[in-house]
Amino acid sequence: MIKINSINPKNNHLVVNWNDGTNDSFHYVWLRDHLQCSDFFDSNTKERLVDAHTYLTNTQPNEINIKNGNLNILWPGEKMQSEYSAQWLHSNSYSKKCLNSKKESFLESIDWQFNSFEEVARFDYQKIFKDNNVAYQLLNHFCNNGFSFIENAPQKPGVVKEITNWLGYLREVSFGDVRDIKNEAGSLNVAFTSREAKPHIDGTNYIHPYVVQFLHCIQNQAEGGNSNIVDGFAMANNLKKINQSAFDTLTKVKVKYKIGAGEHDMSHSAPVIELDREGKLYLIRFSNQQRRELSIPFEDIENFYFSYNLFSKMVNDPTNQLKFRFQPGNILMFNNLRILHAREAFNLNSGLRHLQLASTDIEMVYSRLRRLSNNKIP
Ligand code: OGA
Ligand code: ZN
Repeated sequence: MIKINSINPKNNHLVVNWNDGTNDSFHYVWLRDHLQCSDFFDSNTKERLVDAHTYLTNTQPNEINIKNGNLNILWPGEKMQSEYSAQWLHSNSYSKKCLNSKKESFLESIDWQFNSFEEVARFDYQKIFKDNNVAYQLLNHFCNNGFSFIENAPQKPGVVKEITNWLGYLREVSFGDVRDIKNEAGSLNVAFTSREAKPHIDGTNYIHPYVVQFLHCIQNQAEGGNSNIVDGFAMANNLKKINQSAFDTLTKVKVKYKIGAGEHDMSHSAPVIELDREGKLYLIRFSNQQRRELSIPFEDIENFYFSYNLFSKMVNDPTNQLKFRFQPGNILMFNNLRILHAREAFNLNSGLRHLQLASTDIEMVYSRLRRLSNNKIP
């Protein structure tokens, strides 16, 4: 069991020497902020009870002791010493090595290495619900590759509701909760016709497009309608490699997206490639069909089109696409911020094609993966 052997107080921090021969350093201001006593902290909800500025102004300890291998500090203005258990301190160390080891591996995305869809893992629908190991593999594959492929699901409506509920909840979007994908007269979206839907993400008109999507095939007897998916992150990485300035342009120029009209007037302008605060790829907002009037300064026009053309060529290049045909009972689970999906036109008179689509939030995926990896299955 981890214990504190000795301590070495410095000007603004404390060096803690553990009984395993290693040490960690903690700032006094950090220790004061992480008081565990009940006046400051509700151990049940794990919430702080006091405003930071009221206790973080004077953070020089009056006394520091080790008791039973744990740390005790008497803070200014307090009558009693506050205890920090060695176990808690050790597991919350913020040394460089600890910060690195705390990174969750499932948050890493890996550019695809697949040569064909035959190489892609397939997960059995029933086993996902019954076998935690299969559930873990499914969600981990989804996080690393941006998608997972499920087979042997029931060939009936409502399955997408069942699987989003299994993860947590179904997230409703402007098209409704479960979207039926079949040819509809007067449709406001190419996906709800029999025409070709070129590589795209859904929800481009949202400030934050919906993330996790389940696309379930109920029937697919129509001629045509074959599917493909593209790794948008791999394409962006590729673009960056071959033309950094085109990549930069697509991370800056705002493109307007709007879907249909109808009851809602939802549109949003944002770059095609969005990066997070650390500069990592976050979102590929690509849907040429839903792109609206380009309204940018005169001098930026040609540069934008040059960059956009390069990217468009890549995502439409068959060698970058994973091609497959949906069989009834198949479900494609995909990260709509990363994976572009597409389908060929199909012949309306040759048989029925009926898919259903539903979304949930990615937090539900991460949450389940954490529980599964801690063996605390909900
Ligand atoms: C969609 C879509 C693909 C398909 O509904 O957004 O792209 O295979 N559907 O019908
Ligand atoms: Zn779509």
